[in-house]
Amino acid sequence: MTVARSDALVFYGATGDLAHKKIFPALISMVRRGTLNVPVIGVAKAGWNLDQLKTRAKDGIERYGKFDTASFDKLCGLLRYVDGDYREPATYVALRKELGSSKFPAHYLAIPPVLFGMLVEQLAKTGCSDSGRVIVEKPFGTDLESARKLNAILLSVFDEKSIFRIDHYLGKRPVHNMLFSRFANSLFEPFWNRTYIESMQITMAESFGIQGRGAFYDQTGAIRDVMQNHLIQVLTNLAMEPPVRTDSESIRDEKIKVLRAIPTLTPTDVARGQFRGYTSEPGVAKDSKVETFGVIRLEVDSWRWRGVPFFLRAGKCLPVTCTEVLIRLKQPPTMFCNYDLACNTVRIRISPDMTVAIGANVPSADEKTSVKSEMVATRQPMAEDMDAYERVLGDAMLGDATLFAREDSVEEAWRIVDPMLKAPPPVQMYEPGTWGPSPLPPRLIPAGGWSDPIVNAP
Ligand code: BG6
Repeated sequence: MTVARSDALVFYGATGDLAHKKIFPALISMVRRGTLNVPVIGVAKAGWNLDQLKTRAKDGIERYGKFDTASFDKLCGLLRYVDGDYREPATYVALRKELGSSKFPAHYLAIPPVLFGMLVEQLAKTGCSDSGRVIVEKPFGTDLESARKLNAILLSVFDEKSIFRIDHYLGKRPVHNMLFSRFANSLFEPFWNRTYIESMQITMAESFGIQGRGAFYDQTGAIRDVMQNHLIQVLTNLAMEPPVRTDSESIRDEKIKVLRAIPTLTPTDVARGQFRGYTSEPGVAKDSKVETFGVIRLEVDSWRWRGVPFFLRAGKCLPVTCTEVLIRLKQPPTMFCNYDLACNTVRIRISPDMTVAIGANVPSADEKTSVKSEMVATRQPMAEDMDAYERVLGDAMLGDATLFAREDSVEEAWRIVDPMLKAPPPVQMYEPGTWGPSPLPPRLIPAGGWSDPIVNAP
């Protein structure tokens, strides 16, 4: 089946933060690469005109992207602006006019989910949704029930294959490359199972705090913000079976099987922390019990993985900014037990650089002890690399759903965390610049301990 390429991009929330930091920098990169040649229509209720939007776009690109005059002029040539209230039919009449002869518009809802219902209803009434697709941002709800409601709203106007739910982690090249590493090499598959692997740990550490997003963050917390979505998506890439084909549905069919095999979490599977000083942040309740750090232990109860614990950890104000996976293999039965051997490991770094490292024991010079040495393949980010937002926006406009969260996977991920979030374990304080609350319950510490990523100054 051929899928139509979007012939216009409409983005709602055009004067907002996401547009400023992520969307405009992604759009100019698409123009530079020659992948964006269709009208780009910003919609917002700000009382602005097109020139003001262009000024805002320039500022966002200069601060968060890569500016060059030729590409910016070309982007400005594509840019249109509709100022209006999402409740008012007149806004959609103006939008329809700007859409001109466009038949397959992509509607990108970079706005709070409470507005989705009203917006898609108006799109349907005014014919703006016909043959179009819709792109939505996380958070996809705040629990299972709200996610179901959101999905029902979107599905009342668009069919599932026209809905693109962005989890920008999936657009990160090293995350997608995990599938390539696993399935384009025969090296990994023989040991990628419960017979050889002892545990997997995924750490998403951020050295910064909540960056002025107190009002959002205090309703969200680390588990809803990055663990229920980004880290669980990384986990599915690590744990899924090889897909039977490479089309989006075959890949997403394998991912949902992983999620279905994960038992629902209980409070003893989780620890929550809050950095000291969080409650003084603007927008945060003075007595907030929201977590800025989380640890989750889970299992994938499948033929391949039963008995292998997966540990997920994420936090703000930690010592470094780095996302990394560490896979520990079981010790071999060995005659070299006097060598104090370490486990073999596979370390996959997602950011700030892309690294795959295999850790092995080698004998020391004294031939009595061993050292752990890594064979490292690494690549620093390069200026021409595609940013996650550029990748997902481009794919959505092409109609390739591979890197987007499907309805069933969003709901299944909520099913795993939802009951625990409704009765969470207490939050423990930690000092900024440390690796979270200490001590953690032993059950939440992988054998051999947490591996804290080390990031060298660039
Ligand atoms: C977002 C979260 O989804 O991902 C942020 O809301 C987090 O809290 C961000 O900082 C991390 O993404 P990236 O691409 O900057 O590593």
